[in-house]
Amino acid sequence: MSVAATTSPAVGTLYVSRFPTSRGMPRVTMALRSNVVSVGSILTKLQQDCATPFPVIRHVADSMTADMRAGLAVDGGSNLKMILSYVDSLPSGNEKGLFYALDLGGTNFRALRVQLGGKEDRVVATEFEQLSIPQELMFGTSEELFDFIASTLAGFAEKESEKFHLPHGRQREIGFTFSFPVKQTSIDSGILMKWTKGFAVSGTAGRDVVACLNEAMERQGVDMRVSALVNDTVGTLAGARYWDDDVLVAVILGTGTNACYVERTDCIPKLQGPKSSSGRTIINTEWGAFSDGIPLTVFDRDMDAASINPGEQIFEKTISGMYLGEIARRALVTMAEEGSLFGMAVPNKLSTPFALRTPDICAMQQDNSDDLQAVGSILHNVAGVESSLSERRIVLEVCDAIVRRGGRLAGAGIVGILQKMEQDSKGTIFNKRTVVAMDGGLYEHYPQYRSYLQDAVTELLGSETSKNIVIEHSKDGSGIGAALLAATNSKSETLIPTLCVDITIAVDYSYEHNSTKLGNISTEKGKNRQISDDLSIRFILLQNRQGKTRLAKYYVPLEDSEKHKVEYEVHRLVVNRDPKFTNFVEFRTHKVIYRRYAGLFFALCVDITDNELAYLECIHLFVEILDHFFSNVCELDLVFNFHKINPSKGIHGPRRGSDDSPHARCLLACVLFMVYLILDEFILAGELQETSKRAIIERMGELEKLE
Ligand code: BGC
Repeated sequence: MSVAATTSPAVGTLYVSRFPTSRGMPRVTMALRSNVVSVGSILTKLQQDCATPFPVIRHVADSMTADMRAGLAVDGGSNLKMILSYVDSLPSGNEKGLFYALDLGGTNFRALRVQLGGKEDRVVATEFEQLSIPQELMFGTSEELFDFIASTLAGFAEKESEKFHLPHGRQREIGFTFSFPVKQTSIDSGILMKWTKGFAVSGTAGRDVVACLNEAMERQGVDMRVSALVNDTVGTLAGARYWDDDVLVAVILGTGTNACYVERTDCIPKLQGPKSSSGRTIINTEWGAFSDGIPLTVFDRDMDAASINPGEQIFEKTISGMYLGEIARRALVTMAEEGSLFGMAVPNKLSTPFALRTPDICAMQQDNSDDLQAVGSILHNVAGVESSLSERRIVLEVCDAIVRRGGRLAGAGIVGILQKMEQDSKGTIFNKRTVVAMDGGLYEHYPQYRSYLQDAVTELLGSETSKNIVIEHSKDGSGIGAALLAATNSKSETLIPTLCVDITIAVDYSYEHNSTKLGNISTEKGKNRQISDDLSIRFILLQNRQGKTRLAKYYVPLEDSEKHKVEYEVHRLVVNRDPKFTNFVEFRTHKVIYRRYAGLFFALCVDITDNELAYLECIHLFVEILDHFFSNVCELDLVFNFHKINPSKGIHGPRRGSDDSPHARCLLACVLFMVYLILDEFILAGELQETSKRAIIERMGELEKLE
């Protein structure tokens, strides 16, 4: 029902009683008419321009799907950036230890610590500290902003209670939620493309935000390391998925808005090079930049023109919390100016941009009283006006039109994502339970917005299909999610042998050889097994979880291009292979025996008939020897990551900061040289040479003396 028809006379009356003509005579007819037409018509026009009937939301959902495809095809292919998150595997529940999360979002900044207890205990304890970001920092310099973050973090880290345990000698690791469009360059680095949500910090765009944070931590003396850089949507997806395997999409509806989802890597034409072995990755859509088919009003256009990023983030500007109150305020100001809503003069307070906030319009919409008292007092506080009941009703109609459009468009956006996923894998989205994890204050606190959103989803999908789509609030999921992703991508895990189950299977599978050349090798189960003297290793690879090859030794001649293919294929085979399966997997006409140690995979390629168990033992022996020389073999990943070496501390010391000085280069060369020497002591020309750890260590000692 339009409010114009029912309330206009009251507006007119109000006008008449307050504003006599200059001659003291009330201008009854004219004044009444002009006011009725003015406020009523502005409202009607607003409602028409904001309308989101079925064809509009259908169009928005379809355009969202089309833009997603275009953005996946090529960078810059559409308004949607469809950013690769480098998160190819989600938390499994096994994550353990103390991890930190930093969350730089819209209005707030949060530091969080989480003690993870693995499958049994899950999240053992959390603590957090939240601060509003001072306005001046949103317009200051990069250094000022990151120093603020680092110093807050320093203060927070100092207050760590006994509930939290960090193993001795381990550096604290952070999952950094940075909720702005960032082009990720790896799981722990990414370049800020632009600021959104009213931020205009100088000197950050075009820079790696992790480097900015590292520099600030250095300045503030904070000894921590970022292990994962994630968007808040990605953090939310990871956090929600930790509890529920059906979560495939995450949406933020807060100050800003965005969505991410789990995509098949074969549906990402722009993804070059190695693809994740899971065949899936998370895509950060940055849907705030979507714009096709969005119904806009004159107030949206004016607000956009006055913003610090005109023409950008149109979807965000129509559906997110930063803007809904402001659009309503602009409509009310026009009504006050042109239709004398609230009296002759336009209330000063109301003329201040962003004076009416989304929480205000939300609070007003919750007022069910007959006289709309709460609406009256909010208008008084925000606009400094005494309002009549009819004016309050008009205000509510304005708010509702804007919020209705926001919620329905957000619902259409969600359907756009879901239908894209369904089109690519029929039946896997709509015919089963699929969860969309939602976070953000707007969604959490605005019941009308939530129900408009849900209505649009139901309208578009139909009542049957929409029963399978569960839209669920995942409170603060992004903080825990970021900490979980820091754990998943931790560089400091202790050795995690994944062998026990596999050994049992392998024993049945193995067979005896009659050679004595290599002597006996003790298996995990303590049995002595003899192995063949015609062992022939084709290659050995040491790769990290992202598929970076840290060490490769080929005992068969292969072209470089072929080596790359081999490394890529082996990575895909082993990473994320279900731990329930054996550590042996057929590879072309051979087989690969592999074993995972924290973030590193050791893989050997051997003949299809070779004894798997023996090679598994070889890998472990190699790791033990490396461990002997490098204190913790998992850290080799860091050592090989040249820029993380701190040469002053040597290879056993903490590795923080970047250094590509000749000294550091020389150190890296030494480390590599040593690793290859150890390998040569162990395997030569594809044959195992020595299986005694003691003998190899002694031999290395002698070599050292020669130096
Ligand atoms: C940013 C996104 C972010 C969203 C929600 C948008 O302005 O561009 O990266 O996810 O806000 O915080």
